[in-house]
Amino acid sequence: MVKIAIIGFGVVGSGVYEVLRKNASDVTRNAGTEIDIKYILDIRDFSSHPEANLFVNDVNIIADDDEVSIVVETMGGLEPANTFSRLMLSKGKTVITSNKELVATFGDELFELAKENGCSYYYEASVGGGIPIIRPLKNCLAANRIDSVAGILNGTTNYILTRMFCANASFEDALCEAQEKGYAEKDPTADVDGFDTGKKISILSSMINGEKINHADVHTEGIRKITLADTEFASKFGYSIKLIGSCKRIGEKFAVVVAPMLVENTSPLAGVDDVFNGIMVSGNMLGDAMFYGRGAGKLPTASAVCADVIDAAKNVGAPFVAPWKKSSKNVLVDYEDMEYAMYVCFKTADKAALMKELASKFDGELQIANTDEHVAFITPKDKIKSIKEKLSGINAEIAGSLLVLE
Ligand code: HSE
Repeated sequence: MVKIAIIGFGVVGSGVYEVLRKNASDVTRNAGTEIDIKYILDIRDFSSHPEANLFVNDVNIIADDDEVSIVVETMGGLEPANTFSRLMLSKGKTVITSNKELVATFGDELFELAKENGCSYYYEASVGGGIPIIRPLKNCLAANRIDSVAGILNGTTNYILTRMFCANASFEDALCEAQEKGYAEKDPTADVDGFDTGKKISILSSMINGEKINHADVHTEGIRKITLADTEFASKFGYSIKLIGSCKRIGEKFAVVVAPMLVENTSPLAGVDDVFNGIMVSGNMLGDAMFYGRGAGKLPTASAVCADVIDAAKNVGAPFVAPWKKSSKNVLVDYEDMEYAMYVCFKTADKAALMKELASKFDGELQIANTDEHVAFITPKDKIKSIKEKLSGINAEIAGSLLVLE
């Protein structure tokens, strides 16, 4: 029998409890041993919970109990999750987390601490909720050099964009709907401004690089600027619009970016709608693989945490290999030097003059469309700074611009 503790009994923590209770026989069979919840740490009052006897509010009770070998951290945020995780690891207890902020910010240090103390630090649920992505990268695809990862890593923004596309809802109306359904927070900044996706892509990028890629250094744009003119043009051109976290290997460097992008309808990512997530991975031996499913929510996320518990229970005492170390050099390609095709939408009274200007500045055949008010086109692929230079000389107001996913 393996004894565990859950610290943080919010949405994901209570989901972990539910999964371990409901699926106890599957969990025991897959772990090869019974998983026993000895403690649940939460400062709130759970005296009317059916298993109120499990609840404690002093973290040291768990830290000082040698019987507890695995601690599930589902608190979220940096503190006190960081202090508590370090305490548990320093006592040789394996820690399992769903906390993307902590993994993205201090993962390198926590891995090191786990190694020093002969235990492990697992983080499957920190990216993609219930979708397996960390373990496939770490195990199944471990013999590949991963050349790129690009994904829809945030369910809330994907729901909003889907409503904009399918129901012609404005960004503001779609955000309200997402809030009513409980997907978006009252303060939606982390989701709609791309920061949540930034943490998730920085975790995946760090795994691929083997050294930390700091989310604060990743060029990050959100979806507030997307208009119904953009969704209309994207449809005309045969694309969808998705908030994409992307990491592309360019020689020794990585082009990592979070931005809303036009995604061609032929791409499997274009069909990832509502709150679902989808992640495309390209390995140099495998080619492309796609991971799809529920990227958030109580039970999907808890099922990923519990899979880590099972893995940890099976591998007690196994040597821990840190997925990434602290950064030794800057490996990020500057945003302006990244190469993309770009969608640009103009507001102009003189469409004919604009079209002439576009044809003179950009080589090759341009995809151009227009509506009563706007003209939009897709540039050939080039460095972002070269495209911007060409656009700066054009005599028309730019109403919107978006990168195009390759
Ligand atoms: N707010 C996140 C999302 C939750 O919408 O995907 C999962 O990290």
